[in-house]
Amino acid sequence: METLLTAARQQTNENDLAALLDKILTAPKQHAMLVNTLSRMEYVGARKMVKARHTDSMDVAGLQHLLEEVGHALRLKRAAIKLNGGVEENVATYSAVDTLAGAAGEAYLQGVDRGCEELINHLELAEPQRSEVNYVLSSLAIEVRAEAFYPVYEEALQRAGIAFSVRSILSDELRHLEEMTAAIARHLPADGSTLMQAALQVEGQCFRTWIAALRESVS
Ligand SMILES: [Fe+2]
Ligand SMILES: [Fe+2]
Repeated sequence: METLLTAARQQTNENDLAALLDKILTAPKQHAMLVNTLSRMEYVGARKMVKARHTDSMDVAGLQHLLEEVGHALRLKRAAIKLNGGVEENVATYSAVDTLAGAAGEAYLQGVDRGCEELINHLELAEPQRSEVNYVLSSLAIEVRAEAFYPVYEEALQRAGIAFSVRSILSDELRHLEEMTAAIARHLPADGSTLMQAALQVEGQCFRTWIAALRESVS
């Protein structure tokens, strides 16, 4: 897992993400819209979870995970409003006018989900196991990225002297990552680590596409 995290951190730092964030953070409205995009991504992640998880396999850890992702969406939404001077205008919804590369952010999650679905196709799993394995694999890849992305963003916030922190979100994501890693070993004892590597490759491509769209949308 450490190797996977190191690789994701390296890739996150590629293309000078820190410099891009520094630039975004100099313009409060733009920054607020980026935080609203992150909120949208947490929300879409939670929505995917609701759709993927069958009642037959839903447990306390699953409900906790869902609650925390919705909580991240809410915390980021409130932060976006605060960064926007306390007004909802420009960050009220998740529409294109209220987000920075918001559609591309959502496409990132769809891409990871679809990519992981293709990766497990050959296992010919029956429902509900198919949805469960896809949930675990795509969540794992996204949690690895969260563990790489949020610290870079946190440092940018500190450099800019902005009184907002994503540390508590980060500690939730780290716990989710540990849970997903354990779940992979449970669901896929034989090909878990190969699939994990492949899922991270797919995710890496989706992440690069999102960052490219973000760069494009920055004025
Ligand atoms: Fe989250
Ligand atoms: Fe998470």
